[in-house]
Amino acid sequence: MESLRKGKFITFEGCDGAGKSTQIKMLADYLDKEGILYLLTREPGGGKISEAIRSIILDGKNADMTDECEALLFAAARVQHLSDTVEPALKEGKLVLCDRYVDSSFAYQATARGLGEEFISKINAFALEHFLPDLTVFIDLTPKDAFIRKHGADQNDRMEQAGMFFHEKVYEGFISRVKGEPERFYCVDGKQTPTLMHEEILSALKKRNILK
Ligand code: TYD
Repeated sequence: MESLRKGKFITFEGCDGAGKSTQIKMLADYLDKEGILYLLTREPGGGKISEAIRSIILDGKNADMTDECEALLFAAARVQHLSDTVEPALKEGKLVLCDRYVDSSFAYQATARGLGEEFISKINAFALEHFLPDLTVFIDLTPKDAFIRKHGADQNDRMEQAGMFFHEKVYEGFISRVKGEPERFYCVDGKQTPTLMHEEILSALKKRNILK
Protein backbone atom coordinates (compact mmCIF):
# COMPACT_ATOMS: atom_id res chain seq x y z
CA MET A 1 0.00 0.00 0.00
CA GLU A 2 2.85 2.33 0.94
CA SER A 3 4.35 2.14 -2.58
CA LEU A 4 1.19 3.64 -4.11
CA ARG A 5 1.60 6.80 -2.04
CA LYS A 6 2.86 9.59 -4.24
CA GLY A 7 1.90 12.52 -2.04
CA LYS A 8 3.13 13.31 1.45
CA PHE A 9 1.01 13.01 4.56
CA ILE A 10 1.39 15.77 7.16
CA THR A 11 -0.54 15.81 10.41
CA PHE A 12 -0.95 18.58 12.99
CA GLU A 13 -1.30 17.87 16.69
CA GLY A 14 -1.58 19.83 19.90
CA CYS A 15 -3.80 20.46 22.88
CA ASP A 16 -7.23 22.05 22.36
CA GLY A 17 -6.67 25.72 21.56
CA ALA A 18 -2.94 25.40 20.78
CA GLY A 19 -3.33 27.27 17.49
CA LYS A 20 -3.35 24.36 15.04
CA SER A 21 -6.18 25.72 12.91
CA THR A 22 -4.44 29.07 12.39
CA GLN A 23 -1.22 27.32 11.33
CA ILE A 24 -3.00 24.93 8.99
CA LYS A 25 -4.84 27.88 7.41
CA MET A 26 -1.61 29.83 6.96
CA LEU A 27 0.07 26.82 5.35
CA ALA A 28 -2.94 26.24 3.07
CA ASP A 29 -2.84 29.91 1.98
CA TYR A 30 0.87 29.51 1.18
CA LEU A 31 0.20 26.36 -0.87
CA ASP A 32 -2.60 28.17 -2.76
CA LYS A 33 -0.23 31.02 -3.53
CA GLU A 34 2.46 28.61 -4.75
CA GLY A 35 -0.01 26.54 -6.79
CA ILE A 36 0.80 23.34 -4.88
CA LEU A 37 -1.96 20.71 -4.92
CA TYR A 38 -3.10 19.70 -1.46
CA LEU A 39 -5.98 18.30 0.51
CA LEU A 40 -6.97 19.90 3.77
CA THR A 41 -8.86 17.56 6.07
CA ARG A 42 -9.46 16.83 9.73
CA GLU A 43 -10.10 14.16 12.33
CA PRO A 44 -12.46 13.07 13.52
CA GLY A 45 -14.30 13.67 10.26
CA GLY A 46 -13.11 14.68 6.83
CA GLY A 47 -15.60 12.55 4.89
CA LYS A 48 -19.37 11.86 4.94
CA ILE A 49 -19.33 8.80 7.22
CA SER A 50 -16.50 10.02 9.44
CA GLU A 51 -18.22 13.42 9.90
CA ALA A 52 -21.36 11.52 11.01
CA ILE A 53 -19.24 9.59 13.54
CA ARG A 54 -17.68 12.91 14.64
CA SER A 55 -21.06 14.35 15.57
CA ILE A 56 -21.84 11.31 17.73
CA ILE A 57 -18.46 11.54 19.50
CA LEU A 58 -18.59 15.27 20.19
CA ASP A 59 -22.29 15.55 21.05
CA GLY A 60 -22.55 16.96 24.59
CA LYS A 61 -25.70 14.84 25.09
CA ASN A 62 -23.64 11.63 24.87
CA ALA A 63 -22.09 12.07 28.31
CA ASP A 64 -22.69 8.39 29.12
CA MET A 65 -20.45 7.16 26.28
CA THR A 66 -17.82 4.75 27.62
CA ASP A 67 -14.13 5.53 27.08
CA GLU A 68 -13.72 2.34 25.06
CA CYS A 69 -16.65 3.25 22.80
CA GLU A 70 -15.18 6.72 22.29
CA ALA A 71 -11.75 5.28 21.35
CA LEU A 72 -13.33 2.77 18.95
CA LEU A 73 -15.41 5.50 17.29
CA PHE A 74 -12.30 7.65 16.74
CA ALA A 75 -10.57 4.60 15.25
CA ALA A 76 -13.59 3.75 13.07
CA ALA A 77 -13.84 7.31 11.76
CA ARG A 78 -10.09 7.17 11.05
CA VAL A 79 -10.19 3.96 8.99
CA GLN A 80 -13.06 5.31 6.89
CA HIS A 81 -11.40 8.70 6.43
CA LEU A 82 -8.10 7.09 5.37
CA SER A 83 -9.86 4.95 2.78
CA ASP A 84 -12.29 7.43 1.27
CA THR A 85 -10.37 10.71 1.61
CA VAL A 86 -6.67 10.47 2.50
CA GLU A 87 -5.56 7.51 0.38
CA PRO A 88 -7.10 8.76 -2.91
CA ALA A 89 -5.47 12.18 -2.42
CA LEU A 90 -2.06 10.61 -1.70
CA LYS A 91 -2.40 8.45 -4.82
CA GLU A 92 -3.07 11.60 -6.84
CA GLY A 93 0.18 13.00 -5.48
CA LYS A 94 -1.45 15.66 -3.32
CA LEU A 95 0.06 16.94 -0.13
CA VAL A 96 -2.38 15.92 2.59
CA LEU A 97 -2.71 18.20 5.63
CA CYS A 98 -4.71 16.61 8.42
CA ASP A 99 -5.87 18.46 11.54
CA ARG A 100 -5.29 15.76 14.22
CA TYR A 101 -4.63 12.08 13.66
CA VAL A 102 -3.67 8.92 15.53
CA ASP A 103 -1.35 10.73 18.00
CA SER A 104 -4.47 12.43 19.38
CA SER A 105 -5.86 8.97 20.22
CA PHE A 106 -2.67 8.20 22.15
CA ALA A 107 -2.78 11.53 23.99
CA TYR A 108 -6.53 11.69 24.71
CA GLN A 109 -7.67 8.07 24.90
CA ALA A 110 -4.53 6.10 25.86
CA THR A 111 -3.06 8.61 28.31
CA ALA A 112 -5.78 11.02 29.49
CA ARG A 113 -8.65 8.50 29.52
CA GLY A 114 -6.20 5.85 30.78
CA LEU A 115 -6.98 3.17 28.21
CA GLY A 116 -3.29 2.47 27.67
CA GLU A 117 -1.08 2.34 24.60
CA GLU A 118 -1.60 -1.34 23.87
CA PHE A 119 -5.35 -1.03 23.37
CA ILE A 120 -5.01 2.14 21.28
CA SER A 121 -2.24 0.59 19.14
CA LYS A 122 -4.37 -2.48 18.55
CA ILE A 123 -7.51 -0.67 17.43
CA ASN A 124 -5.44 1.72 15.28
CA ALA A 125 -3.26 -0.95 13.65
CA PHE A 126 -4.51 -0.06 10.15
CA ALA A 127 -3.48 3.58 10.50
CA LEU A 128 -0.18 2.80 12.23
CA GLU A 129 0.88 0.11 9.77
CA HIS A 130 -0.21 1.70 6.51
CA PHE A 131 -0.56 5.43 7.03
CA LEU A 132 2.09 6.74 9.36
CA PRO A 133 2.53 10.46 8.60
CA ASP A 134 5.68 11.64 6.81
CA LEU A 135 5.76 14.48 9.31
CA THR A 136 3.73 15.46 12.36
CA VAL A 137 3.80 19.09 13.41
CA PHE A 138 3.23 19.36 17.15
CA ILE A 139 2.25 22.80 18.38
CA ASP A 140 3.72 22.84 21.84
CA LEU A 141 1.50 24.89 24.13
CA THR A 142 0.48 23.78 27.63
CA PRO A 143 -3.27 23.48 28.29
CA LYS A 144 -3.17 26.49 30.65
CA ASP A 145 -1.66 28.71 27.97
CA ALA A 146 -3.93 27.16 25.32
CA PHE A 147 -7.11 27.83 27.27
CA ILE A 148 -6.08 31.41 27.90
CA ARG A 149 -5.61 31.78 24.14
CA LYS A 150 -8.84 30.08 23.13
CA HIS A 151 -11.73 32.46 23.78
CA GLY A 152 -15.29 31.23 23.59
CA ALA A 153 -14.72 27.47 23.83
CA ASP A 154 -17.78 25.47 22.79
CA GLN A 155 -19.47 24.40 26.03
CA ASN A 156 -21.61 21.83 24.18
CA ASP A 157 -18.51 20.02 22.92
CA ARG A 158 -18.04 16.90 25.07
CA MET A 159 -14.24 16.95 24.76
CA GLU A 160 -14.06 20.59 25.86
CA GLN A 161 -16.18 19.94 28.94
CA ALA A 162 -13.32 17.85 30.37
CA GLY A 163 -11.38 19.62 33.13
CA MET A 164 -7.87 21.04 33.28
CA PHE A 165 -6.47 17.85 34.88
CA PHE A 166 -7.62 15.88 31.85
CA HIS A 167 -5.97 18.34 29.47
CA GLU A 168 -2.71 18.28 31.45
CA LYS A 169 -2.71 14.50 30.90
CA VAL A 170 -3.37 15.02 27.19
CA TYR A 171 -0.31 17.27 27.04
CA GLU A 172 1.79 14.62 28.83
CA GLY A 173 0.56 12.06 26.32
CA PHE A 174 1.66 14.21 23.40
CA ILE A 175 5.09 14.85 24.93
CA SER A 176 5.59 11.12 25.35
CA ARG A 177 4.68 10.53 21.67
CA VAL A 178 7.14 13.23 20.58
CA LYS A 179 9.91 11.70 22.70
CA GLY A 180 9.16 8.22 21.32
CA GLU A 181 9.44 9.26 17.66
CA PRO A 182 11.58 12.41 17.52
CA GLU A 183 12.31 12.05 13.80
CA ARG A 184 8.63 12.00 12.77
CA PHE A 185 7.65 14.99 14.92
CA TYR A 186 8.50 18.62 14.40
CA CYS A 187 7.82 20.66 17.54
CA VAL A 188 6.91 24.30 17.29
CA ASP A 189 6.89 26.57 20.31
CA GLY A 190 3.22 27.61 20.55
CA LYS A 191 4.03 30.79 22.47
CA GLN A 192 5.51 32.44 19.39
CA THR A 193 3.53 34.71 17.09
CA PRO A 194 1.52 32.92 14.37
CA THR A 195 3.82 34.38 11.70
CA LEU A 196 6.99 33.05 13.34
CA MET A 197 5.40 29.63 13.80
CA HIS A 198 4.34 29.60 10.15
CA GLU A 199 7.87 30.45 8.99
CA GLU A 200 9.30 27.69 11.19
CA ILE A 201 6.86 25.13 9.83
CA LEU A 202 7.65 26.16 6.25
CA SER A 203 11.38 25.75 6.76
CA ALA A 204 10.86 22.36 8.44
CA LEU A 205 8.86 21.20 5.41
CA LYS A 206 11.57 22.47 3.07
CA LYS A 207 14.36 20.88 5.09
CA ARG A 208 12.63 17.51 4.79
CA ASN A 209 12.08 17.98 1.05
CA ILE A 210 8.32 17.98 1.49
CA LEU A 211 8.26 21.45 -0.06
CA LYS A 212 10.80 22.93 -2.47
P1 TYD B 1 -12.20 19.70 17.43
O1 TYD B 1 -13.32 20.64 17.61
O2 TYD B 1 -11.80 19.34 16.04
O3 TYD B 1 -10.98 20.21 18.29
P2 TYD B 1 -9.62 20.90 17.88
O4 TYD B 1 -10.02 22.15 17.13
O5 TYD B 1 -8.93 21.16 19.18
O6 TYD B 1 -8.89 19.91 17.00
O7 TYD B 1 -12.58 18.39 18.24
C1 TYD B 1 -11.84 17.27 18.21
C2 TYD B 1 -11.73 16.76 19.63
O8 TYD B 1 -11.53 15.36 19.60
C3 TYD B 1 -10.54 17.35 20.37
O9 TYD B 1 -10.88 17.65 21.70
C4 TYD B 1 -9.53 16.22 20.37
C5 TYD B 1 -10.39 15.00 20.34
N1 TYD B 1 -9.78 13.81 19.73
C6 TYD B 1 -9.55 12.67 20.51
O10 TYD B 1 -9.86 12.68 21.72
N2 TYD B 1 -9.00 11.58 19.95
C7 TYD B 1 -8.69 11.52 18.63
O11 TYD B 1 -8.19 10.48 18.12
C8 TYD B 1 -8.91 12.69 17.82
C9 TYD B 1 -8.58 12.69 16.36
C10 TYD B 1 -9.47 13.80 18.42
